[in-house]
Amino acid sequence: MPSSTSSSPDGADERLQEQFDRTIARDQRVEPRDWMPDGYRKTLIRQIAQHAHSEIIGMQPEGDWITRAPSLRRKAILFAKVQDEAGHGLYLYSAAETLGADREDLVERLISGRQKYSSIFNYPTPTFADVGVIGWFVDGAAICNQVPLCRSSYGPYARAMVRVCKEESFHQRQGYELLMTMMRGTEEQRAMVQDAVDRWWWPSLMMFGPPDDDSPNSARSMAWRIKRHSNDELRQRFVDMTVPQAGKLGVTLPDPELRWNEERGRHDFGTPDFTELMRVIKGDGPCNAERIGRRRAAHEEGAWVREAAAAHAAKQARREEQEKEHAA
Ligand SMILES: [Fe+2]
Ligand SMILES: [Fe+2]
Repeated sequence: MPSSTSSSPDGADERLQEQFDRTIARDQRVEPRDWMPDGYRKTLIRQIAQHAHSEIIGMQPEGDWITRAPSLRRKAILFAKVQDEAGHGLYLYSAAETLGADREDLVERLISGRQKYSSIFNYPTPTFADVGVIGWFVDGAAICNQVPLCRSSYGPYARAMVRVCKEESFHQRQGYELLMTMMRGTEEQRAMVQDAVDRWWWPSLMMFGPPDDDSPNSARSMAWRIKRHSNDELRQRFVDMTVPQAGKLGVTLPDPELRWNEERGRHDFGTPDFTELMRVIKGDGPCNAERIGRRRAAHEEGAWVREAAAAHAAKQARREEQEKEHAA
């Protein structure tokens, strides 16, 4: 086997490419030390980094409610959920590192605005019903997106998704259970739930990205089996999954075009405002500046922790080195 991935006259590159193509065609996993095309590596780093950033920024909208949760039980649940999201972010940064990305560099890209995160986390959470609706819609949409990623062609990403998805289903259920409780409450609580549903429905549909014919990178990611389904297909799955849940809950989804299509065996629904999506992605959403500002401040305020951890690790390494010398 050739050990170099640089181009050589003996066709080593083509052989490596063929081997990679075979791995993908057989639905086997690509692992960190395997040869892979540059485009595949870059696409994955970008996708995994954006995913990691989304988990970390996603702690903020609900994190705002931890100190104001209405009971100890709700506080404990919310705390656990927000903490899970931090864990998802850390898993994913580690997965990006297996591709040669540098975590410090990824964080820098996030706080300088050069790398994106999910548009959904730029919307505000004015009431406690938002906590429930985020769990139901946003974690529900995350499940639709991430379950197929458990079969993604890149091994570390696929394996990270298995555990992440288990936790996402807990998130979705806690959201739905909270809303169920509120719907059994007062008229005012029911109105709060409906208001949150009205505000989050369309931004949640936007989470699946632009329509297929306007999503230039999708085809490539699907050919590489990083991605398994198109944006529109995933959006449809989310709608089909959510409509009966809305019925049971007793809320109305704010889309006059939403109806069951007997022929297709799926729901028809209206088109989200994709110009709003592009605007929010470009930085002009209701909370973009606040989210990034907070992340930057947390990073700067945490610098001493990282320095202390690095100094401790260096000291530890020196000590082990000395012990080895003594033993020799
Ligand atoms: Fe998550
Ligand atoms: Fe989640």
